[in-house]
Amino acid sequence: MSSTDTRPARQTILVTGATGAVGRHLVDTLLARGASVRALTRKPEDADLPAGVDVVAGDLGDASTLGAEVFEGVDRVFVFPARGIDVFLDSAVGAGVRRFTVLSSLAAAMEFPRDRGSASQLHHSAVEAAVTGRTDAWTILRPGTFANNLLEWRWQISSGAPIRAPYLSSAQAPVHEFDVAEAAAETLLSDEYLGQTIAITGPQAVTRAEQVATLAAAIGREIPLIEITADEFRSEMAQFIPQPIMKMLLDYWSDTATTPDRVRPVTTVTGKPGRTLAEWASDHRKDFGA
Ligand SMILES: NC(=O)c1ccc[n+]([C@@H]2O[C@H](COP(=O)([O-])OP(=O)(O)OC[C@H]3O[C@@H](n4cnc5c(N)ncnc54)[C@H](OP(=O)(O)O)[C@@H]3O)[C@@H](O)[C@H]2O)c1
Repeated sequence: MSSTDTRPARQTILVTGATGAVGRHLVDTLLARGASVRALTRKPEDADLPAGVDVVAGDLGDASTLGAEVFEGVDRVFVFPARGIDVFLDSAVGAGVRRFTVLSSLAAAMEFPRDRGSASQLHHSAVEAAVTGRTDAWTILRPGTFANNLLEWRWQISSGAPIRAPYLSSAQAPVHEFDVAEAAAETLLSDEYLGQTIAITGPQAVTRAEQVATLAAAIGREIPLIEITADEFRSEMAQFIPQPIMKMLLDYWSDTATTPDRVRPVTTVTGKPGRTLAEWASDHRKDFGA
């Protein structure tokens, strides 16, 4: 910038969770839109982020790892909802960060009795409160269920083993991680969404049976699917799924068997239609061994 240039110095956006599913696409989107991006990760050596990103080491839950270089020149932050985030937020506010976009969850809206006291609601409400209690300059994103949750079936689908699942007629509106990322980018780059809490889902409610059929179409082969009862699921998966998560999942599927997920289009933020589950499945064919 020349000495007569009156433009403000370009500010840096700090992306936490930058090596995650949402974070990677957020980094790509911000770079493509000309932003200066810093990425926080616990393992910079494994981060594999694009050239042009300033990768810094740090743990969101450990203030001793958050050196001055993490926040230097940083104007705004994308907050990944890690546990123990308070120490990170104190450091950020103390270092002069002015605004925050928070990755939360639709569970924090407590729209349904099942949400109140669920594992996701308790965690995400605490993260939201940690941010809104420290600053007025925030945007909260509340995505519904991620399409990425279908990666739980990666092993069965890759190996040809049958999927055993309950509530196959329940209908959810899974959201593509790219749509969450692009909504986050918009809120970081525009002042329009300050003080707003934004719910986001995928563009359609799709039954669990249709979700499996969509994956099958994307990989070009049938996926054997067996409907089991909630009790069978509970006993088969008890050793893999902690009890609070088990309850949350079964309550969600049970409720959405009678009341499908309501769609909250990402279009209101990104101006683009939300990606369909078929698009997500196509983007993830390799994850399922195709
Ligand atoms: N699954 C759903 O249906 C759903 C619905 C609504 C909201 N959500 C929210 O979305 C989150 C998942 O997002 P995602 O899929 O993008 O994540 P992801 O792919 O699981 O990646 C997790 C990211 O968080 C970072 N991270 C975790 N703990 C950290 C810490 N202590 N310090 C620094 N970085 C840390 C990891 O970075 P490093 O390993 O590189 O340090 C990694 O980049 C969930 O945890 C939940 O809060 C999920």
